[in-house]
Amino acid sequence: MHILLLGSGGREHALAWKIAGSPLVTKFWCAPGNAGMAREAECVALDIADHAAVIDFCKKNAVELVVVGPETPLAAGIVDDLAAAGIKAFGPSKAAAQLESSKGFTKALCTEFGIPTGAYKRFTNAPDALAYIHTQGAPIVVKADGLAAGKGVVVAKTMREAEDAIAMMFDGTFGDAGAEVVIEEFLPGREISFFALCDGETAIPLATAQDHKRVFDHDVGPNTGGMGAYSPTPLVTPAIHDAIMAKIILPTVTGMKQRGTPFRGVLYAGIMLTTQGPKLFEFNVRFGDPECQVLMIRMMSDIVPALLAACDGQLQHFDLRWYPEPALTVVMAAKGYPGDYQKGTRIEGLDEAAKVEGAEIFHAGTIAKDGAILANGGRVLNVCALGKTVTEAQSRAYQAVDRINWPDGFCRRDIGWQAVEAEKAKG
Ligand code: AMP
Ligand code: GLY
Repeated sequence: MHILLLGSGGREHALAWKIAGSPLVTKFWCAPGNAGMAREAECVALDIADHAAVIDFCKKNAVELVVVGPETPLAAGIVDDLAAAGIKAFGPSKAAAQLESSKGFTKALCTEFGIPTGAYKRFTNAPDALAYIHTQGAPIVVKADGLAAGKGVVVAKTMREAEDAIAMMFDGTFGDAGAEVVIEEFLPGREISFFALCDGETAIPLATAQDHKRVFDHDVGPNTGGMGAYSPTPLVTPAIHDAIMAKIILPTVTGMKQRGTPFRGVLYAGIMLTTQGPKLFEFNVRFGDPECQVLMIRMMSDIVPALLAACDGQLQHFDLRWYPEPALTVVMAAKGYPGDYQKGTRIEGLDEAAKVEGAEIFHAGTIAKDGAILANGGRVLNVCALGKTVTEAQSRAYQAVDRINWPDGFCRRDIGWQAVEAEKAKG
């Protein structure tokens, strides 16, 4: 089978690694890819925003399946355009991708189908939004409606922060994405990521994971795309797992089908575990990054038949197997991230790092130049490891990190802390 994977981050390297391991694959390309993905596939310099160019490449190379990694091409309707050209693509249609590309859309779906989420209101002007927050008080959450590269959410602890966030969003900081603003009740609790593979009708839960969004140890500093993750998370007990499937995932899949916009692809629910049960605070319509990295390491089954079954509406009798061992990933980022950072700095020691037992290194923002690996983005490497426990996976991942010589990079030192504490408490 000929497969093309779109994207160039750590999530896509992990997907490429897993897809490349499938005996069904005869030819495999990544566009645009990165230095790590070049080990798994042939990287092609396609502009993935240019749908006609992607279609042309697929036709010339008899591509039978396109796997879309990031949300931007999904929200731009690449799956619809490929389908219209007769090319099978894994991921939701543009209409179904609104679950991520419009927070207001998701909130309305939650109301229509009784999906537990925070109370909210939608606004298209600042005075009404300000009047509303004054009736609600702080803490409160202010969200730009559209895609804002993970920066469109302000969890305001004070009224002043909420007022500033509203002003910033209606000032055009996020362009069209901020033309509508959703104001949401602050949900106290612990946050987890939940993934389900969907074919428009059936949803199969994938493994659970926990992300670490803040840039510094002890979960402080600004939000990032994610500084590390582990899977499974002990926070999701079997009872919580069942509640999430029954109250959040299945009503969403059924609701989307009823509305005539069935959801196919990976549904990623951002969930707060509150004292009143799990509540949804956002959907994404693709794998999480870096959660995907730990999921791919733990997935025992061949991923290619699973992706095909999701495209073809055949998940009903599908079964995915997972390794029971936990996996953990540490993100190494360029100093300064998520603010300004340098590109082009040299990274050494990757081969030595990969020799640590259970370790696997996925590239995110890297580029190969004259035989050297250079940093080429904010989040640059994912140093992952499997272990018998999260504590062991964590220790292996940091052993590998310590073999990497990259003076211009940094990472958090406490990825997995909640699970490690829980393992310690258990003895
Ligand atoms: P997002 O960029 O949508 O992933 O949101 C960034 C972060 O904001 C999430 O990871 C949550 O920690 C937090 N967040 C979003 N909505 C809420 C909410 N209603 N209550 C509390 N925290 C929230
Ligand atoms: N890890 C967060 C995200 O992928 O959005």
